[in-house]
Formats: sequence, C-alpha cells, structure tokens
Amino acid sequence: MTHNSTLPHIVILTGAGVSAESGIPTFRGPGGLWEGRDITELATPQAFRAQPHVVQRFYNERRQILLTKQPNAAHAAIARLQKEYSGRITLISQNIDDLHERGGSPEVWHIHGELLKSRCTHCGAVHECRDDLDTASACPACHSTGKLRPHVVWFGETPLFLEELDARTRDATLFAAIGTSGLVYPAANFVHIARSRDARCIEFNLESSDGVFDEFIPGPATQTVTAWVDSLLGHTH
Ligand code: OAD
Repeated sequence: MTHNSTLPHIVILTGAGVSAESGIPTFRGPGGLWEGRDITELATPQAFRAQPHVVQRFYNERRQILLTKQPNAAHAAIARLQKEYSGRITLISQNIDDLHERGGSPEVWHIHGELLKSRCTHCGAVHECRDDLDTASACPACHSTGKLRPHVVWFGETPLFLEELDARTRDATLFAAIGTSGLVYPAANFVHIARSRDARCIEFNLESSDGVFDEFIPGPATQTVTAWVDSLLGHTH
C-alpha cells in the first residue's frame, strides 16, 4: 500500500477505555478487573504454574464474555480512519479483545496478545481459540496435552512486536493515546518516544493521566474519537 508521505504518520495506542462502552470492564478504577484483586494471583507466569485451573478459569470466563460483546463507535471510527486516511497509520492496542478487528480494523498490533488465541508452551504454535482451555486441552499442532495457555502477555513477560513498534513510533508525527491509564510499561513509553521525536501527542480519556500530552480531549471515546476521525478525514480527503 502506498501512503501520502506529506501527511502525518499517525500512531494510535488504545487501552481498555476504548472497549469500556462495549461493556468490557477496564483494569483499574471502580468496577475494574483488578479492583480488590491481586494481579499477581492471575496475570503472571508464576500464578499459572502454581494454579493453572484458577488462571484458565479467569481467562475462560473473559473469553466467553468477550464473545457476547460488540465493537462500539470508537472501534468503528478508528477502522474508518485506517481505511480512508491517505497517510501512514499504525494501530497499537494493549487490549486482548478482538473488537478492533470486528469493528473493521485491517491491522492491529496486539502488544499484550489476544484472548481468542491459545499458545502451546511445548511447540510454540498459536491457534484460534474460542472454547475453554483446561489442563487437559490438547495442542492442535503437536497434540501435547496440558500445554496450552492463553496467548496473552502476563506481568513479567515481554510485550510483542516492541522493536517494530518503537521504530514506527519514532517515525510518527501524530500520536494518539485512547482510553489508557498509561500506567503499564513499556506500552506507556510510546508517548515518550513520540514526544522525543516532536510528534504532536493527543490523549483521549475521561480524565487526564498526566502532563505528557500536548492536548487532552476529555469524554467517552465513542464520542471524542468519532469527532476526531471526522475532522481528520474531512481535512485530508
Ligand atoms: P486501565 O484500566 O489501566 O485504564 C483504562 C483507562 O480508560 C482509564 O484511564 C479510564 O479513565 C479510561 N476510560 C474508561 N472509560 C473510557 C471511555 N469510555 N472513553 C475513554 N476513556 C475511558 O487500562 P489500560 O491502560 O488499558 O495489561 O491498562 C494497561 C494494561 O494493564 C492492560 O493492557 C493490562 C492491564 O493489566 C496486561 O494484562 C499485561
């Protein structure tokens, strides 16, 4: 695909806030997934080794809930931008849901993995996964049992695609963080990379995270992101 290189290269980083209005809880704050829970009991390799049933059950529940949810207007607006914008655009998501894809996004870099995929700890194969996993599940590739885990990145593990995405972010001229608290590194570092290269940095959130961004656009993503995409495409059609 060829891009108009006179237009800004837009890098978008999304977090749980972009899926909140689809009914998927965020992690932090009231009603969040981590509220009253110790994340190290669920989202670490140590937890998986110690209590595989508990960890599998947590992700099984989230997987089945995800299958009942629908993308919202913010996912659709981002997808429209990816398809209609003539410049270069990169969508990075910390979310493990597939709502960007179902909202029409042609390319999503899931740095924290994908809930609807499994990974075999024996052979490394990654497969689509819509059913529950348990300690007896067999790998479709190597047929080992008890080796499948959710294809998600846990605390203490390295996020995916970082080298490629650092490079893209260094090349960005416009950086937008949508619905993320900016508390989890290295994802939270993308804005600093973008800033160090003089990209214009915009934050979309209900509340401002800190003073790193050039512009803060308050409000629910379904409204603010839709209006932003309308204005960007209006200017660049
Ligand atoms: P958080 O739960 O930390 O933050 C969600 C952000 O979305 C908050 O800043 C909210 O204010 C904002 N928000 C909520 N509803 C919104 C809406 N309708 N419109 C706009 N903003 C809204 O989620 P993340 O920043 O995504 O990692 O969390 C980062 C990582 O921490 C996750 O990927 C996950 C988690 O632990 C792993 O599991 C590795």
